[in-house]
Amino acid sequence: MTRVLLINGSPTAISRSAALLDHSRRGLEAAGLEIHHTSILEFPAEDLVQARYASESFAPFVAAVAAASGIIVSTPVYKASFSGGLKALLDILPQDALLGKAILPLASAGTISHLLAIDYALKPVLSVLGARDIEQGVFAVDDQFEKTESGYTLKPELVDRLDRNLGYLISRVRP
Ligand SMILES: Cc1cc2nc3c(=O)[nH]c(=O)nc-3n(C[C@H](O)[C@H](O)[C@H](O)COP(=O)(O)O)c2cc1C
Repeated sequence: MTRVLLINGSPTAISRSAALLDHSRRGLEAAGLEIHHTSILEFPAEDLVQARYASESFAPFVAAVAAASGIIVSTPVYKASFSGGLKALLDILPQDALLGKAILPLASAGTISHLLAIDYALKPVLSVLGARDIEQGVFAVDDQFEKTESGYTLKPELVDRLDRNLGYLISRVRP
């Protein structure tokens, strides 16, 4: 079955980037795709900081990337770029790990000022890992989310944009 891997790059437990992935997961499930999920919080901080790419803690992640046809990467914008934790996780991947995979980048940010963070910061790193099929991506600002008791939900305008991009990803990964 076609697999899609969801990667959350936020170090925050209750996260808008995670809400983007939760919404994506529902769309992918409705399309009948198999989904795997990971977060930078699942890896030992020391392994990430020291780039211990040979650590056993990364083996399931590297295997999940290899097995995925599509990958959705979601990150908060930190200092006009993507999160350092996500960079540390991407750093341990083998060269060309993303070759042949369809990628959908997602970002949440405090303001519109860093709208180009996906294009200027995240896409070059995805590209150097071999990704050639990268969707335009979805950039969301904090006021496009509603706070709930358990986390965040997406406002309708954001739902529309994300669903459109999800549709592109689904069309790319379907056999
Ligand atoms: C350390 C830190 C740095 C941030 N830097 C930026 C920034 O440069 N530009 C911006 O628009 N928002 C910035 N923000 C706001 C976050 O990107 C924004 O609140 C995002 O939606 C948080 O995502 P999360 O809830 O998934 O962690 C920063 C937040 C933190 C905690």
